[in-house]
Amino acid sequence: MKKVAIAAALTLGAFNVANVSAETVKVGMLLPYSGVYAALGNEIEAGFNLGLQEFGPDLDIEIVKEDSEADPGKSLAKARKLVLQDKVDVMTGIVSSAVAGALRDFVHGAKVPLMVTNAGNDSITGSSCSPYISRFSFSNSQVNGPMGQWVYDQGITKVYTMAPDYTAGHEMIEAFTKTFEAAGGQVVGSEYTPFRKTKDFGPYLAKAKSSGAEAIYTFYAGGEAISFVKQYDSFGLKSSLPLMGSGFLTSPLYVNAEGPAAIGVKTVLHYVPTIDSDMNNSFVQKFQQLNEGRSPSEYSVAGYDAAHALALAIKGGADDRESIAAAISKVSFTGPRGEVHIDPASNNIVQPLYVYETVAEGDGLTQKVLAQLPTTKAPADGCSL
Ligand code: PHB
Repeated sequence: MKKVAIAAALTLGAFNVANVSAETVKVGMLLPYSGVYAALGNEIEAGFNLGLQEFGPDLDIEIVKEDSEADPGKSLAKARKLVLQDKVDVMTGIVSSAVAGALRDFVHGAKVPLMVTNAGNDSITGSSCSPYISRFSFSNSQVNGPMGQWVYDQGITKVYTMAPDYTAGHEMIEAFTKTFEAAGGQVVGSEYTPFRKTKDFGPYLAKAKSSGAEAIYTFYAGGEAISFVKQYDSFGLKSSLPLMGSGFLTSPLYVNAEGPAAIGVKTVLHYVPTIDSDMNNSFVQKFQQLNEGRSPSEYSVAGYDAAHALALAIKGGADDRESIAAAISKVSFTGPRGEVHIDPASNNIVQPLYVYETVAEGDGLTQKVLAQLPTTKAPADGCSL
């Protein structure tokens, strides 16, 4: 790491820090650039770069990128390379919960801060939380838990659940099921489809149709979400079996590829581009300018807020693994999704949640916010340094 002096006054939140001496901070970015989650990886990186441009244009930051392929084994090898060979000061990225789980012990043991920008794996900010792991996206139970009561309150008492058969699918469905059943609802059937392998959802949709359910609750993302929503519609289920779930299903990133099939789907997320606030409107405008008019998504906002937090930490004087990890656990700011902060008990983000319906607008689709739900904190008792 080389020393550089930042002579100009730097803006740190509401106050200025003058003449801070900072080092080049090396960031290892581990994201899926290939496979079923490739679009998500590119989107998170676009958000991160925009965040750095905005909050740290004067900072000396070097980024080393690696393709996780959303594969736990390959990702662990790439993480080792970033930490041991490239000697990064901080890591960011991680889309899959299975990858996050595979990296946890290595990252914790190597004492390198990891700022997670998607993977919702509950345990990395819960029972296995680490002072080196913070999250700027969401946790699987944080997003899906509050939906059990909301779905029940819509008059739906019987649900069929579907999700890919890996950590995220199980955690999201279990969080929903727990609160839906506590509210008085019944899960009449459940299916975990082979992850990254299922092309034809027909046989599963047939089971859902004959199950006696009044709605389907689901988690799918990326390429799988596009196939699922289209097949659900072409199966003719829209009129008889409403589709609900976590909002990755109809993410603004790929909802246009789903087209009219997505209209009427009701889901929950920690961010939608239609949140009406000055901060969000300005973020949407900047993102659209750089991305051919496309609105940002929950993926880009996680990258953007992670970059914001990193810039705050560095401007506050953090310049090595230990001090960056400690500073990140304490960040708090207003971002496009509203007030956010890192909960020092778990290092998970605390944030608002939005239930939204995908609706037609002009030639395209947009997100109509139906309700705001309270956020829940992960049960952990202290994870900061
Ligand atoms: C996850 O594996 O945690 C995951 C992947 C894609 C999403 C959300 C969660 O959109």
